[in-house]
Amino acid sequence: MRATCFGYGALRYNSGFGHNSMSNLIVLGSQWGDEGKGKIVDLFSEKFDVVARYQGGHNAGHTVIVKDQRFVLKLIPSGVLHPGVKVVIGNGVVVDPLALLEEIAMLEKAGVDVRGQIAISNRCHVIFPFHRMVEKVSEAREDRQAIGTTSRGIGPCYEDKIGRRGIRMGDLLNTPIFDALYDMLAEDKATTAKAFGIANDLHLEEIRALYKQMAERIRPLVCDTAKLLNDAIGRGQRVMFEGAQGTMLDIDHGTYPFVTSSSAAAGGACTGTGVAPTKIDGILGVSKAYITRVGAGPFPSEDFTEAGERIRQAGREFGSVTGRPRRCGWFDVPLLRYTAMVNGFDSLIITKLDVLDGLEEIKVCTGYRVHGEVTDEMPAENALMEKVEAVYEMVPGWPDSPTAGVTSYEALPRQAQDYIAYLEAKTGVEVGCVSTGPERNQTIVRAGSKMEKLLDLA
Ligand code: GDP
Ligand code: IMO
Ligand code: MG
Repeated sequence: MRATCFGYGALRYNSGFGHNSMSNLIVLGSQWGDEGKGKIVDLFSEKFDVVARYQGGHNAGHTVIVKDQRFVLKLIPSGVLHPGVKVVIGNGVVVDPLALLEEIAMLEKAGVDVRGQIAISNRCHVIFPFHRMVEKVSEAREDRQAIGTTSRGIGPCYEDKIGRRGIRMGDLLNTPIFDALYDMLAEDKATTAKAFGIANDLHLEEIRALYKQMAERIRPLVCDTAKLLNDAIGRGQRVMFEGAQGTMLDIDHGTYPFVTSSSAAAGGACTGTGVAPTKIDGILGVSKAYITRVGAGPFPSEDFTEAGERIRQAGREFGSVTGRPRRCGWFDVPLLRYTAMVNGFDSLIITKLDVLDGLEEIKVCTGYRVHGEVTDEMPAENALMEKVEAVYEMVPGWPDSPTAGVTSYEALPRQAQDYIAYLEAKTGVEVGCVSTGPERNQTIVRAGSKMEKLLDLA
């Protein structure tokens, strides 16, 4: 395959007459998060009119590097760094107004016209300080296995949403309705806080007043984003849906209970925005050339040796939100095959290939041994998943010729190309794009790939 390299402003539409039919794509993580979604969404945004987040909250940390500036986006879609691209926070996202205003201020300071670009769904659920408090207490309980959450109140806010007592952005903007709903929610939280013995820390009336103030600053940004998105699509505009977290952290399809509380998998893009599945033209999975995980939970290909530490240092695998060291391990084929199945990936983006530079050999987990039997299927039960032993194959590395910063597929060392071909054969999914560094131009889209067509680069 030939390859297309692109960098600053280098993406162009193939057709001179607006957009073709391959318009709306979902880009999401295929592992346990931190796959490099931020870099990829930022880069691809140039080809889209709108970028929409569909789940999660400020538990996400998407790092985007633009020339000498480094941004960590938590809540706001990574498309915001392209002037003129509309960014949408869909109904499936949970919004902490304080975190939102802080992120807006950070971007405005960097010269980004966030307020001109952003729209927030009036159906988003609102995170309150007591969500964080409840989470901290619950995580610390001795009789409960800690998930190792980001402590942002994400889970408790989704609990209130599913429990049908949550407060939505539209409610927050309507004072009498907000007051009535807040009274009910506050009573509920006061009971919980009393049971946990933290009732004195719950400053319910201060929170009410603060949220009313913040509501006024957010008001101009809030609208019915399902309508906004469907109208944009109706006009022939292109929408990219940006997943936060990763498929293995999805509430249904991930390693439950060690998951986040939302639908990170591709299906969440529709429920989390109000755009129908019939409007989606392609689904792209982002995966590292190895794998990491933050927080607790099973991780079959985790490497506790020096090799794992080497990946952590070379890949700078420390949480972008919490700073926690990420657990590191080897590419997991059964896991990727599983996430390809539940998401229906059309093509994969393999990031951080350069982190494997210098290795003589690369380990790849090709199967799971469970109760003495080798399988390539993902167990549903945590009890089984925790017993899984990884079965490995060794693949030659490229110790003498680095891939870091390489911008054409042909210029990658032969063994690196072979590694990519090996991953394609094992996972059954095309690798349409390879990332060789954190910067925009350190990216290769393979010519002739389905990805190239979906991005309208062919
Ligand atoms: P996300 O949550 O999926 O957006 O990923 P994070 O931003 O949390 O973590 C990915 C990290 O890897 C960030 O620091 C990126 O700047 C960096 N990164 C992304 N792609 C590459 C790559 O191809 N090579 C290297 N060395 N770093 C990369
Ligand atoms: P991005 O979007 C990696 C993990 C937490 C914890 C679990 C539940 O940057 O890939 P939560 O606070 O969501 O209730 O925590 O999910 N987690 C992430 N891990 N990257 C993320 O986001 C994550 N967001 C949540 O570490 O194990
Ligand atoms: Mg991240």
